[in-house]
Formats: sequence, structure tokens, C-alpha cells
Amino acid sequence: MSTYKEFHRRSISDPEGFWDEQAKLIHWHKPFAKVLDYSRPPFAKWFVGGETNLCYNAVDRHLEDRSDRNALIFVSTETDSEKTYSFRELHAEVNRCAAMMQSLGVDKGDRVLIYMPMIPEACFAMLACARIGAIHSVVFGGFASHSLASRIDDASPKLVISADAGSRAGKVVPYKPLLDEAIRLAKFPPAKVILFDRGLDPGMARVAGRDLDWVELRAQHLNAQVPCVWLESNEPSYILYTSGTTGHPKGVQRDVGGHAVALAASMKHIYCGNAGETYFSTSDIGWVVGHSYIIYGPLIAGMATIMYEGTPVRPDAGILWKIVEKYKVTVMFSAPTAIRVLKKQDQAFLKKYDLSSLRYLFLAGEPLDEPSHRWITEGLGRPVIDHYWQTETGWPLLTSVPGVEQTPIKFGSPSFPAYGYNVKLLHETTTEEVGTGEKGVVVIVPPLPPGCMSTVWGDDERFVKTYFETIPGKLVYSTFDWGIRDKDGYYFILGRTDDVINVAGHRLGTREIEEAISSHPAIAEVAVIGAADQLKGQVPVAFAVLKDPSQIESSAGRMKLEGDIMKTVDQQLGAIGRPARVHFVTLLPKTRSGKVLRRSIQSICDGRDPGDLTTIEDPGALQQVRDAIAGKA
Ligand code: PRX
Repeated sequence: MSTYKEFHRRSISDPEGFWDEQAKLIHWHKPFAKVLDYSRPPFAKWFVGGETNLCYNAVDRHLEDRSDRNALIFVSTETDSEKTYSFRELHAEVNRCAAMMQSLGVDKGDRVLIYMPMIPEACFAMLACARIGAIHSVVFGGFASHSLASRIDDASPKLVISADAGSRAGKVVPYKPLLDEAIRLAKFPPAKVILFDRGLDPGMARVAGRDLDWVELRAQHLNAQVPCVWLESNEPSYILYTSGTTGHPKGVQRDVGGHAVALAASMKHIYCGNAGETYFSTSDIGWVVGHSYIIYGPLIAGMATIMYEGTPVRPDAGILWKIVEKYKVTVMFSAPTAIRVLKKQDQAFLKKYDLSSLRYLFLAGEPLDEPSHRWITEGLGRPVIDHYWQTETGWPLLTSVPGVEQTPIKFGSPSFPAYGYNVKLLHETTTEEVGTGEKGVVVIVPPLPPGCMSTVWGDDERFVKTYFETIPGKLVYSTFDWGIRDKDGYYFILGRTDDVINVAGHRLGTREIEEAISSHPAIAEVAVIGAADQLKGQVPVAFAVLKDPSQIESSAGRMKLEGDIMKTVDQQLGAIGRPARVHFVTLLPKTRSGKVLRRSIQSICDGRDPGDLTTIEDPGALQQVRDAIAGKA
């Protein structure tokens, strides 16, 4: 077997030969004529002229060998339900759903917005879109009306698929009122809405003529057989919005062929998942991990995939391990926050269940601290692989690749660049490559490998400007993360270079939170930063300047306003963006040209030195931040 270094070297020196080989892992209806077309940098077209279909690869392809084996395992500790679907049953449900969509006029290239909790119907809807060539845009259920409306406007979906409600830690979270409000706000409202009624919100309102019932529609298409629409490899498969520096999330667009090949290759080389086994990712379909490693990746590999609706600690802190035992999970994927949460619970839960099936636990989404990495590795007695990637890349960018070579794990490090990625660390100002142990911006030399974003939905220029024009004079993709590499070539991620924060693995733009807070009538100006948090990694903290400071003269007035502002964020953006604290100040630290010094505020919040302050307009503003945190303001 080749060593990993050699495997990686070949993927960079001969990308076409390398990916031509990987492309054999999926089914092609029509073979591609060219592996890579890179005639218009930085746009990379993979497997040009080839025709395939994601749903075919995820479902139909397995009917011959394992039609009665589990494909989808749904476990909800919120509603106390469990249900499994074989590949045959999944195929039938996806066909029904595809027919439902077609009956409403959804065609190839049309967008379908999916705003659903973690229920099997969400999986059927995604795969049904893939089947008929419709482009899905899944919006995380934790987002509220305003966020949803801006995504509706950007994608202009013909159809929205939703449910009455989700449930979080035993509390019902109605979705429909948020959806109704979003559609009211949207400039381009969808013509139809399909609702899956879980019976969680008996008061759910329906709009006559627009809202349709999933169960009724399904009953009309019970025996539907909808052929897969073969798509050219570079046609769009989905849009997934992600946060950046502006208040307007970007629609990350993914292709079909490159996406399928990249996921199939990652299942083999990185996750070591085999057909017939079970994969368990604790993420949500609203995030990229859910797209790649709840739905498409495991199913393409012929594995059963677990969709889990619940938290890691209900009914107790053994629930994840109980699921591993029951379904003989071989590969598991979670986030560092879940591990930190479990670390605070009774350790006996780690030993209570038979985990002998489990080969690897993968973690991603946020920095994994060394003590948590060590704790879970020792507790499980298995390799725990920290790996680093982004919505934009769709699959791991830094990782150990145990399917090729079992390289030793270093705690707190996501190991090395994955095959296909030509990664460099560049100095922030000189833009030269940094040396061992020096901090630099993590960049990728294009072309980006298959499976990475192909563009920003509807905005090629924004794709180039945002990602490829941030390092002067160099056409490289910026990850907007800081990293360092040690003498053995192991990478360590040190956090974002931009205004993106990471709350319990959820990526949020501080600008989006600021916009939500600014919509409160009392606010004149606000700055949001991500303050370090032991459990969640970071939490949003706001510093607000009021139009009329007399409102907070009494501590009761101050507390009421802080609560009101938090509520505003809940309603506009969703509770995941709610600031942990809103501090009131009379001015924000700014440069003389008026730029808010978020990094300096962040340093103070984290107890670090705010650095060079020669450009600050009024140093008194930083003192206010210090006083506010110390509770003196
Ligand atoms: O800052 C990095 C952090 O999460 C960002 C990407 O978030 P998202 O687009 O939601 O994709 C998550 C896919 C797993 C990155 O820019 N991040 C992700 N993984 C790690 C990480 N930070 C440190 N270590 C990681 N393993």
C-alpha cells in the first residue's frame, strides 16, 4: 500500500490521473470526455461531459446487492420514535416524493427549499430533488424568519417543503409560523408549500391553495416510478447558504459528478466505511456535514446512515453510545462541543455499552482542544480523528487518511492536507509561505479538487472576489482560517481571520447578528464578537450604543432591554445567534476611518492584549469595553 505522502503527492502532481481513478467509485450513465477543464481559473470543471445522478448513486445503485439492508435509520429521542428503511423502502419513498414534486411542476434546475427537522422525510426530499435534477436548498431549522426570507429571495424556490414543528431538548419548536412570516417578508414567495404534519403543533395554520399536506400528496403517488434525470457532471446539485463577513450569506453551489466522486473517495480513504455497515453522524441536515455525511456520503458508499433527532444528553449521556451499540455503528462523526458536553457528565456512560463495532470517531466543525481530544480517545480506546473543513470544500481539507495509511494522531491537530488539496500557509502581510511553527493564513492553490463549491449561486464575481482575491497578487483560495504547521508537518487551526464566529460548531457571521440587533428601535450602533466559551468554543457577545441612554438608567431597565434585544435576535435570526450578553457602552472602539475594531474587543473579552492601538480614535472606548466586561458599567 502506498504511504500517505506518496498518495497526496500524486494527487497534486497528476490530478487528472488521480481523479480519473477515483471516478470509478461511482456510476456514470455516460462517461466523461475530460477529467478537468481549468481553462477559466479559478473555475474548475470536473469530469466534463460525464452524466450521472446523485440519487442513483445513493439509492438505486444498491438495489441489486442490498435492497433489504438498512439504508436509513431514524432515531428520535425527542418524539420517542425509531424507524428503519431498507434501500428498497428508501427508493420507494424517494420515488413518491419525486412524483409529488413533479405534480407541482418542479422540473430540472428548479429550486426547492427544505426547512425541516431531522426526520426521514427531509432525507426523501433531498434525494427526490437529486433524482429529478431539482436544486435543493436546505435551511437549518434553527434559523428564524428573516434568515429564511433572505434565503428564499436568493434562491427563488418554486416549492418549499417543511413541517409543523421540530423539537429540541423536549420542547416543541413550531416551524410553520416562522415559515409563514418568512414567506410574507420574501420578495419572491414560493407558489407551493408541502407540509409534513408530525402532530407536534396542533394549532398549525394552513394557507388555502398554497399549503399542501405531505401524507395526502404521497397517497396519490404510492406506486410512482420516477426515472433519474441524468445530469452533466457540472450542473448544480444544491445550494447551501453559509455565513461570511457580510450580513448576506453566500449560496455555496455544488456540482453533481465532482461531488459524488469526492464523497465516494472520502468514504473509502478517510472514513474507511464499507457497504453494509452503519455510519452515524450527529450533525443536522441543515449544515454541510449533514449533506455530505448524513445523506450523500454514507448512502453512496452503500452504508446505512443514522438520522438522529435529539441531544447527546437526553435521556442520559449514554444515548449516543447506546445507538452505536444497537446499530453496530462502525464510523461515527460528531463535533467537539458534543464531546465537551459529555466530558462534564458521568464517565461511566462511556463504559456502559458495547462499542466493539466502532472503528473511528471523527470530529470537525470547530477547534478541538487537546484535553477533550485526549479524554475521548482514552475513553473510547479508538482513534479519534480531528479533521478540518468548510461548507465551501464539502469534504475534509485537513485530515488523517487512515484508509491509505494509519498515521499517528497528535492531540489538537487535524493532521495533514487531504489528497487533492494543495495547501499552503501564507504570511498575512508579506504573502510568502511561512516557516515551521509560524502562523499563516490557510490557503489552497487552485484548481480546487472535485466536490468543492463550484461558485456562489448566481454570482460568479462574488465567488472570485470573496475567496480568490484576498491575498494580493496571488490567485489562491483563502479559507479565512489561521494555521500553523509543526516540524512533523502536522497542522493546527488557530481560528478565523474574518468576522465569522463558531458557536458550538455552528458557523455564524457577526454581521448577521449585528443586523438583527440593529433592527431593535433602541439601538444606534452595535458590534458583536465571539467570546471564548469553555463549552461552546465561542459565544456571541454584543456591545451596543443606544439612541437614548436614559433607558438603562435603572438596572431593571437595563435587564429588560437586554432581554428584548435577545428576543429580537431569536425572531430574526434564530436562537443560535442570540448573544450571551449585551453590554451597553456610549461609543465603540473604532479606527480614525470609522472601522469598528472587533479584533481588539475580542482580545479584551478573551483576556488577551488588544495589540497595536495606534490607529484607535478614542482609547476611552476600549476602557468602556473593559469596564463592561468587569461589570463596572
Ligand atoms: O473555522 C473553521 C472551523 O469551521 C469553519 C467551517 O465551518 P462550516 O462551514 O460550518 O463547515 C464545517 C465543516 C466541518 C472553518 O473555516 N472548523 C471546521 N473544522 C475545524 C475547524 N476549526 C478547527 N478545527 C477543525 N477541525
